[in-house]
Amino acid sequence: MDYFFAPGRNHLFVPGPVNIPEPVIRAMNRNNEDFRSPAIPALTRTLLEDVKKIFKTTSGTPFMIPTTGTGAWESALTNTLSPGDRIVSFLIGQFSLLWIDQQQRLNFNVDVIESDWGEGAKLDILASKLAADSAHTIKAICIVHNETATGVTNNLVAVRRILDDYRHPALFLVDGVSSICALDFRMDEWGIDVALTGSQKALSLPTGMGIVCASPKAFEASKTAKSVRVFFDWGDYLKTYKTGTFWPYTPSIHLLYGLRAVLDLIFEEGLDNVIGRHRRLGKATRLAVEAWGLKNCTQREEWFSDTVTAIVVPPYIDSAEIVSRAWKRYNLSLGLGLNKVAGKVFRIGHLGYLNELQLLGCLAGVEMVLKDVGYPVKLGSGVAAASAYLQNNTPMIPSRI
Ligand SMILES: Cc1ncc(COP(=O)(O)O)c(C=O)c1O
Repeated sequence: MDYFFAPGRNHLFVPGPVNIPEPVIRAMNRNNEDFRSPAIPALTRTLLEDVKKIFKTTSGTPFMIPTTGTGAWESALTNTLSPGDRIVSFLIGQFSLLWIDQQQRLNFNVDVIESDWGEGAKLDILASKLAADSAHTIKAICIVHNETATGVTNNLVAVRRILDDYRHPALFLVDGVSSICALDFRMDEWGIDVALTGSQKALSLPTGMGIVCASPKAFEASKTAKSVRVFFDWGDYLKTYKTGTFWPYTPSIHLLYGLRAVLDLIFEEGLDNVIGRHRRLGKATRLAVEAWGLKNCTQREEWFSDTVTAIVVPPYIDSAEIVSRAWKRYNLSLGLGLNKVAGKVFRIGHLGYLNELQLLGCLAGVEMVLKDVGYPVKLGSGVAAASAYLQNNTPMIPSRI
């Protein structure tokens, strides 16, 4: 039974959890299985190989953990660091704030570099901290690639360059929860030591799997890292990798079949095409926002996110009212403003299994809600700007040419 049933499709435009592709839903529609039979290890072997492709790594080791993004954070930290270790972490919005809170609660010595919400990481401050750290007291740099609360994408290439410029050995830990599989992400090329994501974001699966990928350097660090870890201990996984059983505890069989199906879809579309599709949808959304005369929460173009757009509303409007009304009247799910930007922004998530016409439906819905709450928008203005761009830039569907 559906609570709050509404006819037609829900337009799901929160920045995760996102739409699950029909073939993936079908692949997951099955009975449970014995995960100790030969079938599940055989399936797992293919998944471990193939998830590396979405992280763009050949040297990394992936762990598929029954958890969410938050657990993936904990796995990255506790396997590589010891209590008291100094780490540099960027606070730019709600999710980087939560990660920092976790870092502090795990007893790391967190050196926070804070930006205004809507701005990216202050990399000049990172550079000065590294320059002053000839003793190499900084053990890790933690950064959220794409801050989902504000729609800010940080420049990971620049972080790597700064680490290299100062020949600093700190580990480079990256939250790719709302970027991996949607934005350009290159674990090996960018020298990332631990990268992580969650199944319910660009992978378009149900919530419940955290994927963490560790570089050889992160592995070396895990041998001496003294943080207490039990459920998240990479060592327990590695033992099962050696025996070919792959699971130290019970995996979600359904998520494994779902992951297989979604990876097949991603590879069929082509990862670069998936990234290009996100670029298109992000740009079209921003054009609509501009046409509505509203501001993007993201302060500079270099930080614009192609997976989520946070839109600032005028002070006489409560953005929570927009989100509430969109759901109640138009069956459209938009993202709330969180914490510091609560009431001030609403978010359009444009990630995962999504296409151009779906986005236009969302933009039409946003226009109607804006009018409902008293914002003087011209109906069709954002849709016109977005569709003009999409009409010029949407490629033919390869399988239909
Ligand atoms: C960038 C980012 N990191 C981490 C998280 C936390 O993930 P989860 O809610 O799956 O624990 C989120 C959730 O939205 C996120 O957007």
